[in-house]
Amino acid sequence: MSDRPRIAVTGRIPHAGMELLHEMGEVVAWDSLDVPSVQQVHEMVRGAHAVVTLLTTKVDDAFLDAAGPQLKVVSNVAVGHNNIDLAACAARGVVTTNTPGVLTDATADIAMALVLMVTRRLGEGERVIRRGEPWQWGMFYMLGSGIQGRRLGIIGMGDIGQALARRAKAFGMTIAYSNRRPVAPAVEAELGAQLMSLDELFATSDIVSVNCPYSPATHHLVSTAQFELMKPTAYLVNTARGPIVDEAALVQALQSGRIAGAGLDVFEAEPTVHPGLLECDNAVLVPHLGSATVETRNAMARLAAHNAVNVLSGVEPPTPIPPPAN
Ligand code: DGY
Repeated sequence: MSDRPRIAVTGRIPHAGMELLHEMGEVVAWDSLDVPSVQQVHEMVRGAHAVVTLLTTKVDDAFLDAAGPQLKVVSNVAVGHNNIDLAACAARGVVTTNTPGVLTDATADIAMALVLMVTRRLGEGERVIRRGEPWQWGMFYMLGSGIQGRRLGIIGMGDIGQALARRAKAFGMTIAYSNRRPVAPAVEAELGAQLMSLDELFATSDIVSVNCPYSPATHHLVSTAQFELMKPTAYLVNTARGPIVDEAALVQALQSGRIAGAGLDVFEAEPTVHPGLLECDNAVLVPHLGSATVETRNAMARLAAHNAVNVLSGVEPPTPIPPPAN
């Protein structure tokens, strides 16, 4: 039996990452675009020293039991890590890593695209043409809402929130944000960004963008009470994680005209989408494409592999998941 480390990969990842893993150890990889069942994951990780996981892989005590005590590292190919029970990993001395940085621009691009799509009714317009419905240029035909001079309220001013703010500023928007702590004064000054409470942000923003991580503390952070605070002309954009927004409350807000529209890249129970959202013409819905560019996915795979290889080699990984803030 080989004494090279055993590495399990719970979904297909680009060659750029696989190459590094193959150089390091004996690799077992899930070779299908379908998501493996929990049981299939548990079989695959048995005896592994490193597991490279996708965001669809749940890493909990059952996973860690299935893997066994030799497991050293869980390397997530995503910046979000709500699929991993960090405390359970830490309790067993398993290092956890993610892929921040390399997907910042791609995700901020999608957030900005959703801002433009929903305010300019691009999804609605596209559907009219595809359905072969009659249409005619008209002075009052399918008017949207301009974003210049409007306030973008960003919830979660990490790398992606800041990258979105830069884009929005270039489009002439003003920036408000809510965050656990203020960003560096130089960044605030560069972006002209104003820190405010969540309530003030909801009440005064023309577009609210969700860019914070998902955790029990942010579950349904945006729900009926927040929609009640929002202007009826305001829009919601979510490119972070679905369960931060209460989808049933959102459907209600969209259907009743409580808010003007929503642009969503993420959903509460992916890949299922709340049936009410499908009926809302004022909702732009895209299937979790935030990091979906060839360049970004290659970079994510490479970084995740690098993280795993480093831990297996006894070297500090480039991007360990920081311990939770108190
Ligand atoms: C992430 O990395 O968390 C993204 O959601 C993947 O697209």
